Amino acid sequence: MRLKDKIAIVTGGGSGIGRASAELFAAHGANVIVCDLKGAEETAALIGDAAMAVTGDAGRKEDVAGLVRAAVDRFGGLDIFFANAGVSGGLKSIFEQDAEDWSEILRVNLIGPALAIKYAGPVMKERGSGSIICTASVAGLRSGAGSGAYSASKAGVISLVKTAAQQMSGSNVRVNAICPGLIETGMTEFIYDRARAKGQEDKLGHLNPLKRGGEPIEIAQAALFLASDDSSYVNGHALVVDGGLSSSHPFNHQNYGRTAI
Ligand SMILES: NC(=O)c1ccc[n+]([C@@H]2O[C@H](COP(=O)([O-])OP(=O)(O)OC[C@H]3O[C@@H](n4cnc5c(N)ncnc54)[C@H](O)[C@@H]3O)[C@@H](O)[C@H]2O)c1
Repeated sequence: MRLKDKIAIVTGGGSGIGRASAELFAAHGANVIVCDLKGAEETAALIGDAAMAVTGDAGRKEDVAGLVRAAVDRFGGLDIFFANAGVSGGLKSIFEQDAEDWSEILRVNLIGPALAIKYAGPVMKERGSGSIICTASVAGLRSGAGSGAYSASKAGVISLVKTAAQQMSGSNVRVNAICPGLIETGMTEFIYDRARAKGQEDKLGHLNPLKRGGEPIEIAQAALFLASDDSSYVNGHALVVDGGLSSSHPFNHQNYGRTAI
């Protein structure tokens, strides 16, 4: 029960990483407000009385402010905001993406977390403590894991949590990011479906040293760590959870004989 009686908001909670995190937070004793454009009710139903579903847009300021208000009105405060909702926008090149594509991807993936910090930060400061966690991605570390707009939005999230941690200085509110690698969720369903259809399931995640894709629960566990007092001295950090994918430059192990066992 690492989040006993804590009050949490999880955006993008209707699916994938968000749903696994909402369920895990609740299993550890938290009351959870689950926000999503779709699927929030289903996640809340899986959790039961400790959950409240909100169908809303995590990139819209009125909705984010409303989530924080709901946490205070319904549960009496706010301890954890997991700003996790995201869109990939597909695997288009810079030359195929329009300004409208950039606007929507940045609105949800980057402005959403910024709004979470803006509205949750003061409430948590007043309460004396809090943890804000934003989902970035290995795409924010370097190219190759999504479109230009997606990568830029996630690099922006990594920058955002560092600035926010500084600007919450003295508040006892920590702000961190998680950078997942390849995780099997709604966002990556097409990749998994395609590999399975070709009988190439063994190729999924084969570029990382663990040689597999990750499960939503493996990101949820990182979110639980950052949400709980277990990470009480972790602040302004981007925690990479990618099976080791981003630990190396492209490297052909076969050329180095015994360095790879
Ligand atoms: N799956 C991966 O491999 C991977 C890797 C790195 C980062 N991520 C990030 O993880 C986060 C969660 O994605 P996921 O992989 O669980 O995918 P997912 O598609 O299963 O879940 C994303 C959820 O966000 C919701 N959402 C999208 N726009 C929203 C909005 N404006 N307001 C509220 N909800 C909205 C969707 O409806 C969906 O339920 C995203 O930020 C994504 O960019 C995923």
